[in-house]
Amino acid sequence: MESLVLCLWFISVGLAQMFTGQDPLAKQGTHCNVTGQWKNELGSTLQLTSNGPELRGVYHTAVETECGASGQNREARVVGVISEGPQPTVAFSVQWLKGSCSVWVGQCFLLPGGGQVLKTLWMLRSAAESTAGNWGSTRLGEDQFVFVGKAEVADGH
Ligand SMILES: *[C@@H]1O[C@H](CO)[C@@H](O)[C@H](O)[C@H]1NC(C)=O
Repeated sequence: MESLVLCLWFISVGLAQMFTGQDPLAKQGTHCNVTGQWKNELGSTLQLTSNGPELRGVYHTAVETECGASGQNREARVVGVISEGPQPTVAFSVQWLKGSCSVWVGQCFLLPGGGQVLKTLWMLRSAAESTAGNWGSTRLGEDQFVFVGKAEVADGH
């Protein structure tokens, strides 16, 4: 009899979790949703909106190779692509005001405790005066973006 009561208790708790959505695994989300605001270790921010396989947004950089290289507001439009799946791969690029450009490739991962992170490698191409300057005109690095929230959706301004 006691075991029956215990069994019914487990079933009812299980059903309650299903119907109220209180299951902690469900709360974490089962798919990365990159739409929203991201911030990297340098304080640069990235607003993304995904639309099918396409990514659009605005990048606000916290760093520059030289003063003014990224423009007055240090902001530029983001254009990119994103794969399907729970932890999609991404590739996106930015053209800076003074002629340099950046690309990032990476993947969105769900964190065990909830939340999501975008792990990327980037390349930054500065415009060289001539082929003589070509050899040293590309920088490479690593960026990790943490999801900050569903901020106002990027509108390209
Ligand atoms: C992703 O998040 C955005 C912003 O909250 C929301 O509008 C959109 O429906 C979400 N997409 C999916 C597939 O859940």
